[in-house]
Amino acid sequence: MSDNNDIYEFTAKTFQGLEKISASELKKTGAENIKILKRAVSFTGNKEVMYRANYEVRTVLTVLRKIKEFEAKSSEELYEKAKNTEWDKYLDPEESFSIDKTVYSHIHKHSHFAALKTKDAIADYFTGKYGKRPSVNTKNPDKKIHLHISGTKCTLSSDTSGEPLFKRGYRSASGVAPLNEVLAAGIVMLTDYKDIEYFYDPMCGSGTILTEAARIFMNIPPGYGRKDFAFRKFKDYDYRLWNKIKREADKKIKKEIPVKIIGTDIDENMVKIARKNISNAGLRHFITVKQKNFIGTELKNRKGIIVTNPPYDERIKSSDIYKLYKDTGDTLKKGYKNSTAYIFSGNLKALKHIGLKASQKYRLYNGKIDCRLLKYDLY
Ligand SMILES: C[S@@+](CC[C@H](N)C(=O)[O-])C[C@H]1O[C@@H](n2cnc3c(N)ncnc32)[C@H](O)[C@@H]1O
Repeated sequence: MSDNNDIYEFTAKTFQGLEKISASELKKTGAENIKILKRAVSFTGNKEVMYRANYEVRTVLTVLRKIKEFEAKSSEELYEKAKNTEWDKYLDPEESFSIDKTVYSHIHKHSHFAALKTKDAIADYFTGKYGKRPSVNTKNPDKKIHLHISGTKCTLSSDTSGEPLFKRGYRSASGVAPLNEVLAAGIVMLTDYKDIEYFYDPMCGSGTILTEAARIFMNIPPGYGRKDFAFRKFKDYDYRLWNKIKREADKKIKKEIPVKIIGTDIDENMVKIARKNISNAGLRHFITVKQKNFIGTELKNRKGIIVTNPPYDERIKSSDIYKLYKDTGDTLKKGYKNSTAYIFSGNLKALKHIGLKASQKYRLYNGKIDCRLLKYDLY
């Protein structure tokens, strides 16, 4: 039985471009030896850090805890070394498991095969020792094991999160192109949201930016409202420690905030969807959403920020998209003096049609899509 003094090695996965924010969030949980990787951050910490990284960090997708790292120059070596692991510290023969894989290797070219070898190694370990073995369940396993191969370096880890952490538990309805919650939180965290009177998403779609913003302003932990975390099924699960961490984080939730959070969308159906998600998140009293065309609107002489993700769907005719971006730029310039606007888009050509000079640019990836978050100071 391990206690809270045991130190583990972790890797937290995130979106490309959010690594630095994830690192600074992780630091606050007590994580040490933080290293920024591509789409991930590695760190060390005890069980408390593991629970807090899952519950309190807004910009990570999954937290993996290292089981073992070794060199393998062939699939046989991978199998032998994977088998030579104390799997009964992590799994019971009655449980089910799955293998997730990330493979970058000329030697282990076929990632499916490498995962299959690892699965066999685990199954054979149990059959040899107990005469029975855990079953494989790819949809809803009790335990998720992660295999990472870089060249000949193999790392086996336990997924401590389970369902990815962007599944906050409030989204029941999504729009056509909803932003991932982790990405939306990261976007808000890149803005200057301190000391503002209002926060406005004029093209709010299903309301992800608004909801994540409200949760940030109110200190609502990202894991608040989630059904479960994989670490609660771990053999070393510490119920008291987890409850203490959750209680302490939940105690910091603010009951009121001085910021007006407003959303609009041209599409009445999206407004309904946004309202539903906001109400699921328990934020109905803090966010107002209305049906409105943003173009031609104004809100002068109030200090606030506009954060939005206009359509960038490739299926929309480019002349229409360019006009929408141009009109958005004109509206911001004429109607939103003294505010700061942040536009997030994966349509880099369309962004040029905003026609304003960006004072800051952030490069982010929405999955494989190369995106920008551009900041415009309006005066
Ligand atoms: C990419 S989606 C936003 C997705 C949103 N961030 C989410 O997480 O669901 C863009 C939204 O802009 C809205 N929109 C397009 N033109 C608009 C306009 N002129 N005024 C207001 N909303 C507009 C669309 O209806 C769509 O819901």
